[in-house]
Amino acid sequence: MTPPGRQPVRRRTAALRRRAVLATVPLTVAALLGAAGPTAAGPTEAGAAGPGTIGAAGAGDPYFPLSGNGGYHVRHYGLALRYDTATRRLDGTAVLTARATQRLSRFDLDLTGLHVTRVAVGHDTARFRRDGQELVVTPARTLRRGQEFQVTVAYHGTPGPVSDPDGSADGWIPTDDGAFVAGEPQGAMTWFPANSHPSDKSSYDITITVPQGRTAVSNGTLVGQRTVHGRTTFHWRETRPMAAYLATATVGKFTVQRYTTPDGIRVYNAVDPREAAAAAPVLKKLPSVLRWESTLFGPYPFRSAGAIVDHAHDVGYALETQTRPLYDRAPDLATLVHENAHQWFGDSVSLTTWKDIWLNEGFATYAEWLYSEQHGGESAQQTFDALYATPAGDDLWAYPAGNPGSGANIFGTPVYARGAMTLHALRRAVGDRTFFRILRAWAGEHRYGHGTTAAFERLAERASGKDLTGLFHTWLETAGKPGHA
Ligand code: TRP
Ligand code: ZN
Repeated sequence: MTPPGRQPVRRRTAALRRRAVLATVPLTVAALLGAAGPTAAGPTEAGAAGPGTIGAAGAGDPYFPLSGNGGYHVRHYGLALRYDTATRRLDGTAVLTARATQRLSRFDLDLTGLHVTRVAVGHDTARFRRDGQELVVTPARTLRRGQEFQVTVAYHGTPGPVSDPDGSADGWIPTDDGAFVAGEPQGAMTWFPANSHPSDKSSYDITITVPQGRTAVSNGTLVGQRTVHGRTTFHWRETRPMAAYLATATVGKFTVQRYTTPDGIRVYNAVDPREAAAAAPVLKKLPSVLRWESTLFGPYPFRSAGAIVDHAHDVGYALETQTRPLYDRAPDLATLVHENAHQWFGDSVSLTTWKDIWLNEGFATYAEWLYSEQHGGESAQQTFDALYATPAGDDLWAYPAGNPGSGANIFGTPVYARGAMTLHALRRAVGDRTFFRILRAWAGEHRYGHGTTAAFERLAERASGKDLTGLFHTWLETAGKPGHA
């Protein structure tokens, strides 16, 4: 199941049963850069327009120093894409509506590969150059701090994935019938110019034109679909704030199923026929899984839901693309529970920095444990105990969940399993009533926004009235196997 050289699939309760050994991946240059600190994060370069007017090349994330950019916030992305599945050529126009957070004589977007033919800011053509993953834009006139502006980028090319520090691929991944498009953590820049860091969230309108007979699936609701001269255009709209890595434009030959749940959530499932038989019994449970998660975590944050089940086994992972998780094969029930739990934890409540990734993966994994517990399977305590029995030298204890150390480790077992163990330790310390109140308060107070580990710790202490410093320090910050469970 797990392709050689790639980490085992990380997000299943079955991880317990077939918990393979984490591959030891050599540190890549990117990871080393990350470890060395945010070299690219400050406005270091003083241009002709004077210091302090140049947007930083990165959002300041030590794990991915060039991800995101400084100096502006993107309110809305309007992406018009056309993908030729035969030649694998992508033609795109991106219109970003943004607001300057400082005086800006120059700013960057993230974009890798592809050929840019024109950049405009407002109605004026802007100068631009490429510098690695940075598309460096110099508007004709310096933007005032607080000014709203539109950037238009016309581009085309043959997109492909980026390679992550852990050796996995993300971004635009061509398949035999289209493309599997999954942007975590860095891949958004392989198919659109973006402020590609979860600290910036935006609404999206995405239109994708593909050859008739193919389906293009993205986030949110399908606003329209039209076939003209052998090509079909799909118009998707996500109005809730979304991080760039959660956007998708997956293309393939899909069977589509649409319905509205009793709770009024609009479901759109797209399934590769080769996965249909295996996917059907699991997808049937989506409404009940969403309802169960809503009772635990609070109201479902979005208006639409669904699944994209592709036939792309080489990818080796699923992604919690907003409103509509993307699976590289028919998911098992635990994976369905996991990716949909991310809609609360990761998508609605987003990371401020990749170091806090356990706030996504630990929570989604713990949702799997809770699902099992409340549906006649192992209790969370049993799952915890089985993991705790793992010997001290095991990869599970290789680093603490709250401090993976580099981008190469953000999808490792300690983040998922020890992250979930942290929540279980919290549950035992504060009791069930308070614990579930904390989960709901976390999802509610940071809805459509951002969280940090420190904010979660404060919430847990406030809700419980307990000093939890020791517990969090042990489970999230201390290397090695905790001495007592
Ligand atoms: N966030 C995904 C999940 O747990 C996993 C994932 C996304 C991933 N992109 C990745 C894992 C890249 C490894 C490499 O559901
Ligand atoms: Zn996950």
